[in-house]
Amino acid sequence: MKNLNQLIILITIPVIFFSRCSQSESLKPKVIPCESDVTLYYPLNYNQDAHTPSFAIVNEPRKSLDEIDSNTIKVSFSNIGDREVAQVTIGENIDLYGTGEVLGDLVRNGTNLKLWNTDNYAYGKDNGQRLYQSHPWVLGLREDGSSFGVIADNTWKMEIALGERITFSSEGPSFRVLVIEKDSPQEVMRELAKLTGTIALPPLWSLGFHQCRYSYYPDARVKSIADTMRLKNIPCDVIWMDIDYMQDFRIFTFDSINFPNPKETNDYLHKNGFKSVWMIDPGIKSESGYSVYDSGDSINAWVKNQKDSVFTGKVWPGDCVFPDFTQDKVCNWWGSLYKDFMSVGIDGVWNDMNEPAVFETSDWTMPNSNKHKGGKTKPNGSHLRYHNVYGMMMVEASRKGIMHANPEKRPFVLTRSNFLGGHRFAATWTGDNNSSMKHLKQSIPMSLNLSLSGQPFNGPDIGGFAGNATPELYGHWIAVGAFYPFSRAHATKGSINQEPWSFGSEIEQVSREALQRRYRLLPYFYTLFQESSKSGMPVMRPLFFHNSKDYNLRREQGNFLIGSDLLVIPKWNEGGNMPNGNWKTISINGESSENHKYHPDLKIRPGAILPLCNAIENTSEFSLDTLTLLVSLDTTLKAKGVLYTDAGDGYAYQNGDFSLVEFNAEQIGNSINISVTYKEGHPLSDKTFLNIRIIDNKKSTTSVFNINDDIVIPI
Ligand code: GLC
Repeated sequence: MKNLNQLIILITIPVIFFSRCSQSESLKPKVIPCESDVTLYYPLNYNQDAHTPSFAIVNEPRKSLDEIDSNTIKVSFSNIGDREVAQVTIGENIDLYGTGEVLGDLVRNGTNLKLWNTDNYAYGKDNGQRLYQSHPWVLGLREDGSSFGVIADNTWKMEIALGERITFSSEGPSFRVLVIEKDSPQEVMRELAKLTGTIALPPLWSLGFHQCRYSYYPDARVKSIADTMRLKNIPCDVIWMDIDYMQDFRIFTFDSINFPNPKETNDYLHKNGFKSVWMIDPGIKSESGYSVYDSGDSINAWVKNQKDSVFTGKVWPGDCVFPDFTQDKVCNWWGSLYKDFMSVGIDGVWNDMNEPAVFETSDWTMPNSNKHKGGKTKPNGSHLRYHNVYGMMMVEASRKGIMHANPEKRPFVLTRSNFLGGHRFAATWTGDNNSSMKHLKQSIPMSLNLSLSGQPFNGPDIGGFAGNATPELYGHWIAVGAFYPFSRAHATKGSINQEPWSFGSEIEQVSREALQRRYRLLPYFYTLFQESSKSGMPVMRPLFFHNSKDYNLRREQGNFLIGSDLLVIPKWNEGGNMPNGNWKTISINGESSENHKYHPDLKIRPGAILPLCNAIENTSEFSLDTLTLLVSLDTTLKAKGVLYTDAGDGYAYQNGDFSLVEFNAEQIGNSINISVTYKEGHPLSDKTFLNIRIIDNKKSTTSVFNINDDIVIPI
């Protein structure tokens, strides 16, 4: 009887559905109110098997008995042609953000984009409206400053149209929608992080400056880049190895002529205070006798074509096969490949081309009809279903393998392709941009929207990848690029040299000063990354985080915030919108930015205390024996700041080996008193010295104290 009922439902639902849809009517969804102001909307013809496990959501919202108190957001589902559509009614005068890695303005209203991860050189295809990553996520902001977020929990090929309504239309089966309703965008970001997880705390070195090129070879060139950084006192932590280190582009191998002894190269870098990051792509040369191919082939690891034969496609090494990361055993095998690889002293891994890019094909990837076999945790499915999460599955497997190989260290993985929630596994950069002022300017809204989509650890190629930077362009780019959460210079093969010293002495000095600013700010950056790892708050933030009711701040896409206390004003954007209050210009390292051609003006929020370390050239010199505090009192004559610090790598912090410190300043009469409160973890060493710099419009004064002194500064 039960089965008969099920059969009737199975037959009638599609019939009702089809007849309604042919008239383009929408079907009322099943609505489930959940805790924390989250609501789930299910289409009536929802097929759970087509969408589980969810790639984005790691913590399912818990159902609640509360009523839904939004009267503006309504979700309806319909079927238009061969598309499954979800329409979200959002009310009027809403500004929309998010949608992940996208080219264009910060405010996304009026745009249509495709979620189909694409190797998009110079952002040339489809006007950059589909790039390397997919984030089916929209953040909305109302005039009263309240905010909402919408997730379409769907990996299948999809488009998003942001008009009067938000419309998701998918080439796959109908999908569920989650809506978060909150009083502020910050609260929405925190709730997004509860649902999709946060980043893991990265190693401190990964917040330093990274120097990359396609490619540095042979090993002597790698060493000479490192030597020149030190010789010229340009702060830098990481040198990157692009594909030319490999033997004929076979992943997990080293070129016998150019990199005969990778361990010795890494040792050299380590001795000089550098880390190294090496590239691994997913395409594996299809060649028996090549150990990676043979071992994968022996477990039937490859993605198959429609006819169930192994799919081969061309990438750098020629004909390649592609690991099928939907199979658990393939992920384990892939992870195991990192053990020997990391053992030569590799510190971080760069997973590229993982959309996956396949050359000489009409859509530059594998066919939609390719087959993924699935395993214990994922069902089998077509490439149409798994394409957008191929890169995410790859970096999850890479990360696990790297952690297994180096259990004492925090992993660092950079990925080009990813999906909503993939920040749990890897940092990202925005792919192959151009060496142009246009792409430099657009990098700000791009990084902001990625940050507003749950990925705090991101940045573009500084200097631009495709084409040649001019001295002026590089000067502007490095000056602002020192403030991206992920700060890496990169350039394509055949381009001119794009190291900080390649553009003459003026730009070399600009680069040095820009990176000195970043390095002195590392205690602040690290504190923000720790906050992000706990709460999901972005590191780089739009100005409307200061006041989401402010119409002008909601549109500002040149000036940006690092955390809530540091405002960055790129030189090309002077005259841009400013948050209210007396934000004062600060000099981090003695530089004067106000009349400088390149250095962005930096301003401190009234009421903030910014922690700085001493000038260092790499994070192996990082120490808080002397801590500088920049103090800017607000109109109530108070200021507050936070510092998080720990060993910078490893996991001792998980057992209490860290300090979370709060500094409070208050002017009482003719003096400013500063108190130090330990919030969590252990106190700072009692040998710590504090340089207190009171930021005043007229003069800045610095006083030196021991951390245990009564800190009273006469003014
Ligand atoms: C891709 C990457 C680029 C890299 C190149 C060679 O174009 O986006 O960063 O340098 O491949 O590996």
